[in-house]
Amino acid sequence: MAAGNADEPRGTSSAQLLKGQRALVTGANSGIGLATAVALGRAGADVVVNYVVDADAAEKVVEQIKGFGVRSYAHEADVSNEDQVVGMVDRMVNDFGTIDIMVANAGLQRDASVTEMTLAHWQKVIDVNLTGQFLCAREAAKEFMRRGIVPEVSRSAGKIICMSSVHQIVPWSGHVNYASSKGGVGMLMQTLAQELAPKHIRVNAVAPGAIRTPINKDAWDTPQAEADLLKLIPYRRVGDPEDIANAVVAVASDLLDYVVGTTLYVDGGMTLFPGFATGG
Ligand code: BGC
Repeated sequence: MAAGNADEPRGTSSAQLLKGQRALVTGANSGIGLATAVALGRAGADVVVNYVVDADAAEKVVEQIKGFGVRSYAHEADVSNEDQVVGMVDRMVNDFGTIDIMVANAGLQRDASVTEMTLAHWQKVIDVNLTGQFLCAREAAKEFMRRGIVPEVSRSAGKIICMSSVHQIVPWSGHVNYASSKGGVGMLMQTLAQELAPKHIRVNAVAPGAIRTPINKDAWDTPQAEADLLKLIPYRRVGDPEDIANAVVAVASDLLDYVVGTTLYVDGGMTLFPGFATGG
């Protein structure tokens, strides 16, 4: 395929980095998950598009991915439900033969100050953002270990990519459930990476900063909100979902085969303590 097709986002190449691999992306019907599923398909992978609400949106993503000449289907499953995650990976192994790349992306926010935060809101965020990633990683790891390395497909026996956040390390007032879940994702990722590396399974995290998606619409959809947000971003640009999708493709590919147990921050410098640029 020629490089630089007009329908590709600027700065990406059409190299089939993931040709012949099979990927599952959770929460792939919107935002970062959607862009990631599309980018994996463009890179040559077959893609399962997981969603929990809005089947129509998921089907549109599937059609877009099929346009790259790869296989794709949508699968409804709540990542915090053990049986549903087991069933989702079983079906993928049945339909696609196996799984090579698990992108544990599904996540949500339920914001409140600590004194206003209900146990239900705490639990929901931990269940989806942290327990959901544990279940998806566990089921993928079982299949990676069963199958082992297939050298024609990839140098590793499988890749798990945890979608984290700058809030893996940046405390976030008014969001204690979310920040705690992402802090947990950091240690989940590192511990799994340590445990699974001897099996030639690579576990890493991609940690987005402020990306223009529905989850944080209030933070960028008025000029004043965007101006305030940009003060937190040294690179002075709100990220696009494709910024994260491209990072996931790179981490999943053999180009980064020696990257194990790392968090790749994709945040325009948000984790550089921008408040200290002039003070301190
Ligand atoms: C959150 C967004 C937020 C961003 C930067 C993300 O993980 O989901 O709501 O804008 O971090 O603070």
